[in-house]
Amino acid sequence: MARDNDITFHTRKWVRPEDLNANGTLFGGSLLRWIDEEAAIYAIVQLGNGNAVTKYMSEINFVSSAQQGDLVEMGLTATAFGRTSLTMRAEVRNMFTRQSILTIEKIVFVNLGEDGLPAPHGYTEITYDRDRVPREHLHRIQDSAPGMA
Ligand SMILES: CC(C)(COP(=O)(O)OP(=O)(O)OC[C@H]1O[C@@H](n2cnc3c(N)ncnc32)[C@H](O)[C@@H]1OP(=O)(O)O)[C@@H](O)C(=O)NCCC(=O)NCCS
Repeated sequence: MARDNDITFHTRKWVRPEDLNANGTLFGGSLLRWIDEEAAIYAIVQLGNGNAVTKYMSEINFVSSAQQGDLVEMGLTATAFGRTSLTMRAEVRNMFTRQSILTIEKIVFVNLGEDGLPAPHGYTEITYDRDRVPREHLHRIQDSAPGMA
């Protein structure tokens, strides 16, 4: 797992034909779907709650394009823990050249309670571990693969 400028690059993607736009380069919509899912997973791990939703995304800077066959990696870091929210910064880059492909300065997720309303999450610091993984998810992981997590 690579860590640069406090961003941890977790997930790698292989740019395939179905991810291309009409110019034959990586389609922005695919990239945004990937990064939203990555941010959701990051928020779940940080907030310990599977019920966190995307609230806000700031300007998206498509810095450079990617081609079919490229390997890209996605990175996120938490930049602010609010009362019910978590703010993150995102970057996608070419895995080999490290050329930046996309940056998003602010992605805000909101922690929801069982009633579907914003709920305090109680965290102020990033975890680099799996200590906050939601219990119900943990049970499912342990049932399907005893000894994991
Ligand atoms: C998420 C949702 C429940 C929040 O409701 P809300 O009335 O905006 O809630 P609040 O005003 O209490 O704000 C909740 C948090 O979000 C933050 N927030 C609200 N609007 C924001 C904005 N435009 N930019 C950044 N942060 C924002 C608030 O500052 C607050 O954070 P804090 O508690 O850490 O200070 C509601 O907006 C919603 O359901 N949105 C749809 C979410 C969704 O479906 N996402 C999937 C995308 S398709």
